[in-house]
Amino acid sequence: MTTVEDVKIIELPRFLDARGNLSFVEQNNHLPFEIKRTYWIYDVPGGENRGGHAFKENQEVVIALSGAFDVVVDDGKKKKSFCLNRSYYGLYIPSGLWRTIENFSTNSFALEFGSVSYSPNDYIHEYNEFLNLKKDGKI
Ligand code: TYD
Repeated sequence: MTTVEDVKIIELPRFLDARGNLSFVEQNNHLPFEIKRTYWIYDVPGGENRGGHAFKENQEVVIALSGAFDVVVDDGKKKKSFCLNRSYYGLYIPSGLWRTIENFSTNSFALEFGSVSYSPNDYIHEYNEFLNLKKDGKI
């Protein structure tokens, strides 16, 4: 069973250069899974939140490619908030955690890598269902 202690910041390579900096990410190297999916969130209106749900299987890495936002993770017992505001930090989130993304700054851009292809069945949308599955050790 995963807990918020399993959520980790991954520091990505950085090539600092007077012409502009460069970072990169490789699956099975910087990320602890094979990338099956990449998606991004952008044009978030002020005050909106994204991603109030948990995944049964999908693991993720979230990067603030631009701007800043908070990723709040919750294992049913404890919550932790990570402020992402640098494009060379990835936040690894294992499966089985409730997570929301909040406090998007203007023009922020969230890039997300996932370990499974999109499947509506992988989502838990109800917080009480999440708590029950967690309590029963099913996720
Ligand atoms: P959702 O995961 O609910 O967004 P968030 O967690 O950020 O609030 O996805 C929103 C919509 O986008 C939903 O209708 C399904 C669709 N979607 C895909 O088709 N493929 C994907 O990989 C993702 C992440 C979402």
